[in-house]
Amino acid sequence: MIKHEQIEKNVGLLIVLTLGVVIWGGLLEILPLFFQKSTTTPIEGVKPYDAVRLAGRDVYIREGCYNCHSQMVRPFRAETERYGHYSVAGEYVYDHPFQWGSKRTGPDLHRVGGRYSDEWQRAHLMNPRDVVPESNMPAFAFLAGAKAKDTVGSDIDAKMQAMVKLGVPYTADDIKGAKAAIGDKTEMDVLIAYLQGLGTALKNTK
Ligand code: HEC
Repeated sequence: MIKHEQIEKNVGLLIVLTLGVVIWGGLLEILPLFFQKSTTTPIEGVKPYDAVRLAGRDVYIREGCYNCHSQMVRPFRAETERYGHYSVAGEYVYDHPFQWGSKRTGPDLHRVGGRYSDEWQRAHLMNPRDVVPESNMPAFAFLAGAKAKDTVGSDIDAKMQAMVKLGVPYTADDIKGAKAAIGDKTEMDVLIAYLQGLGTALKNTK
């Protein structure tokens, strides 16, 4: 029998046993999440991002919006009063990768879909100070000058194919029509389409 004293006096053994405990604990916490229904099944109303929103999501990622915005409403009164229903795992099953974020320089965006009009979103992205005078969000006016098909949309079909490998149920028709759906839209158009869809499945239930 190894005694506690022996473990504490033997650094090598202490490291090995500590690692063992951490790995075991980690596996017990993480592994079940891959198989639980609540984390792997979309809740009602959650659909895969269409081609336009998927491209918009790529603009969101490229511009680093997640550095200032989280996409996770926590189950606390102060948050649900402000943003709406707290976020649930089944809303994120088609997000590869998640945009949860960990910093809120600006507000959480998980329920921002439908909160403002497209025109408001456009004005805000062109110059946030025009609609929120005290805002310190950078302007993203240049997005209105770039065609999505030349950038985030140029390989949208390949991206959707990759999503299929990750379990997103796009059909062959979805993928075939992807480029046409993006058409002549600007990066700003597709970004706004993405924002307007965020969190809408659970939007109005507080
Ligand atoms: C440097 C930090 C910063 C970055 C980067 C940033 N934002 Fe913001 N954002 C803010 C702040 C601060 C606010 C609150 C003031 C305002 O409404 O402008 C805000 C507000 C918003 C709002 C309004 C939310 C609400 O509920 O009123 C939206 C939508 C938004 N940002 C989208 C974006 C998108 C999309 C991007 C990336 C293209 C982005 N932001 C990048 C800081 C940032």
